[in-house]
Amino acid sequence: MPVTPDYRTGLEKRIDKLSRSINVLRTDIEEMEVPELKGILGRYAAAFTGFFSYWVAASKEAVKTPHAKKLLGKNLLEEIEGNHPQMLFDFVRSAGVLPEAKDFQDIDKEVRHLNKVFASLSPVKAAIITAVLEATAVDDMKYLAAIAKKLGSKNFTYTTVHGELDLEHTEELLQATESEMRNRHSKLRRGGIDPEKEIKRDIATAVSAVGRLLKKIIKPGSEIGRRG
Ligand SMILES: [Fe+2]
Repeated sequence: MPVTPDYRTGLEKRIDKLSRSINVLRTDIEEMEVPELKGILGRYAAAFTGFFSYWVAASKEAVKTPHAKKLLGKNLLEEIEGNHPQMLFDFVRSAGVLPEAKDFQDIDKEVRHLNKVFASLSPVKAAIITAVLEATAVDDMKYLAAIAKKLGSKNFTYTTVHGELDLEHTEELLQATESEMRNRHSKLRRGGIDPEKEIKRDIATAVSAVGRLLKKIIKPGSEIGRRG
């Protein structure tokens, strides 16, 4: 019986590459003006307050293997029980930020694209997107906390809770993704389709969809002058 390719290592390499390209975009906080700092928090909150729990829920619905469903279900329960959307909203509000219309507009294209991928109910792509969001969140939390601190915030519950949880979540969601990739591999092979080509394409689509959003949050182009 042919051996299933090591998709997880391939995915992890892509996530590392994405993390590096995102980190390059992060401007030193000391060099940024208040409107820029507020913009990052505003766009992050605009994307994640309303959508993150939904994306986890959508992934849970999309995945097929019981292992992945269980892990995503656990994640979703933590989101709900811990009231994470409210926690995020309180975190940015404490830094003097409320997401504005411009924040939603700035990330609209990227969020729409992600939502479209979820709507396709592709189990592999959905699982990958949530895994990548968790994997990149570790660096995000440090950056967001430093920005909030500079803006005078005293509420770091969101970044502390997520900085601690996300390493564990990343491992769980990578495992969920692995189950789905293996499952899809067998299915495609049974259908006479080249599984490697398809799964590599899924990985590329899902990782780049997340990357586009995260990069837009960090660097949307010129925004100075929009906030006081
Ligand atoms: Fe969360």
